[in-house]
Amino acid sequence: MARPIFIAPSILASDFARLADEVAAVERAGADFLHIDVMDGHFVPNLTIGPPIVAALRKVTKLPLDVHLMITNADAFIAEFAEAGADYLTVHVEACPHLHRTVQAIKERGVKAGVTLNPATSLSTIEEILPEVDLVLIMSVNPGFGGQKFITSCLQKTASARAMIDRIGSRALLEVDGGVKIDNAAQVLAAGADVLVAGSAIFSSPDYAATIAAMRAAGQPSSTTPQRVSAHR
Ligand code: DX5
Ligand code: ZN
Repeated sequence: MARPIFIAPSILASDFARLADEVAAVERAGADFLHIDVMDGHFVPNLTIGPPIVAALRKVTKLPLDVHLMITNADAFIAEFAEAGADYLTVHVEACPHLHRTVQAIKERGVKAGVTLNPATSLSTIEEILPEVDLVLIMSVNPGFGGQKFITSCLQKTASARAMIDRIGSRALLEVDGGVKIDNAAQVLAAGADVLVAGSAIFSSPDYAATIAAMRAAGQPSSTTPQRVSAHR
């Protein structure tokens, strides 16, 4: 049976002056999650949003809030983001020296725990924590900015992550973030992704519903490219 496909618009590319309207628009357009990029100007060279915005968004949408923490000291902010209404809190393995403790702290707050890796970080860094997590996020750009080009080698990494998740019978969602567009969605989904994050592809398009529908349709067997990426792990 085909796996469900989830589309997660990243609000980083939305019009912040009209944030509530933008969120309502992607919700109407068929989004499954709302992806919220939290950056601290330290782990990544950009500053974005914090818990007050997450709390404000919680009041205006029913979409699950998929909060991607690109911050150095995630442990210090877990409680605040949980109280703000995050449904998923995803932390970077590069920023969390005590990743097991961090993941447990997220789950103890009743929030689903995700782990993510930069493009140059080996998948082996999540092997031990994998049974504990609800989501694995493969970064397909170096985090910090929207609108960057998809790093093609991340397709193979996505396929390898799919194989790792399936091998242990984990129900963790596999999400891919960065440079995902209508024209590479089929490859990303064929590599085994469950969730596509898309910022500029959705918010820069004239018709959010059509873009989301096209990304979802890219997961249908007829749309997948013949050169399927296979796992070799
Ligand atoms: C990058 C962020 C992404 C970004 C995606 O650091 O984690 O979520 O907003 O934007 P696009 O889809 O434009 O690459
Ligand atoms: Zn993100």
